[in-house]
Amino acid sequence: MKICRTKAEMRDTVRDWRAQRETVGLVPTMGYLHEGHLGLVRMARENADRTVASIFVNPTQFGANEDLDTYPRDEARDLKLLEQEGVDAVFLPGVEEMYRPGKPAYVDVPELSGILQGALRPGHFRGVSTVVTKLFNIVTPDLAVFGEKDYQQLTLIRQMVRDLDMPLEILGHPTVREADGLAMSSRNVRLQPAHRQEAVALNEALDKAVLAAKARPTIEDLETVVKSRLEGSPSATVESIDIRDADTLEELTGTLDSRAVVLLAVRYATILLIDQRVVAPDF
Ligand code: PAJ
Repeated sequence: MKICRTKAEMRDTVRDWRAQRETVGLVPTMGYLHEGHLGLVRMARENADRTVASIFVNPTQFGANEDLDTYPRDEARDLKLLEQEGVDAVFLPGVEEMYRPGKPAYVDVPELSGILQGALRPGHFRGVSTVVTKLFNIVTPDLAVFGEKDYQQLTLIRQMVRDLDMPLEILGHPTVREADGLAMSSRNVRLQPAHRQEAVALNEALDKAVLAAKARPTIEDLETVVKSRLEGSPSATVESIDIRDADTLEELTGTLDSRAVVLLAVRYATILLIDQRVVAPDF
């Protein structure tokens, strides 16, 4: 497995593969890998000849009071896991390699970056769309894999690729979960033990939403179903419950009559957990 710490090394590596007419799949990550990330790696391997994973804790997507400095890191372990998965190259740039000082150019998807999580985290999605564009330009993959766990991120990247004619395919991977249903996340290790137990509430609330949706409830009633399960978790602060069109993330009103996504953001002490599920009425 090749380890590329500079853009030049990464470009050279991909150039050699392209000369052999090999296709390239990219899995962008911020490291501290878990089974969720490894699922994405496997999907990339199944769909391309060569697989690149990137590990870069991207400062531009963290707000001033967010967890950039305390974001967990374990490079040696990450590299071992990626090697075991048969990844061909890892792109591991430092911050100075990725960003020049000053006010560099950026990419934004205005509508999608300002709603939902974007309204709670100003600038976050602009940081994501910019770094992902840079990774696409450096690695020039034929496809890239993103998790449905970050549903708004996946939707935003699909729209960016479509609107800006980026020449690659985006694959979405279903959310990978712990045995009790909690969506895998690098943040889970930072939950207090009691909160870790309570955090199954997110997945259970979404299960309830799947069942309730079948009977064509109103959006309001569907939200009440979700909220009442979350209220069963005393330490949870419900930041948001959003029920949106599953493809466009537009707001829905009245009776549920098409595919919708239920998006949850729930905080335990300082740890923000997100989860989502696509629901649909029985047709
Ligand atoms: P990170 O949080 O490291 O996640 C990397 C990728 O793994 C994302 O596509 C995310 O949706 C996916 N992922 C994380 N947990 C998952 C799970 N439990 N099941 C399935 N997929 C999961 O998302 C980012 O990094 C960054 O914003 C990035 C895209 C790398 C840009 O900096």
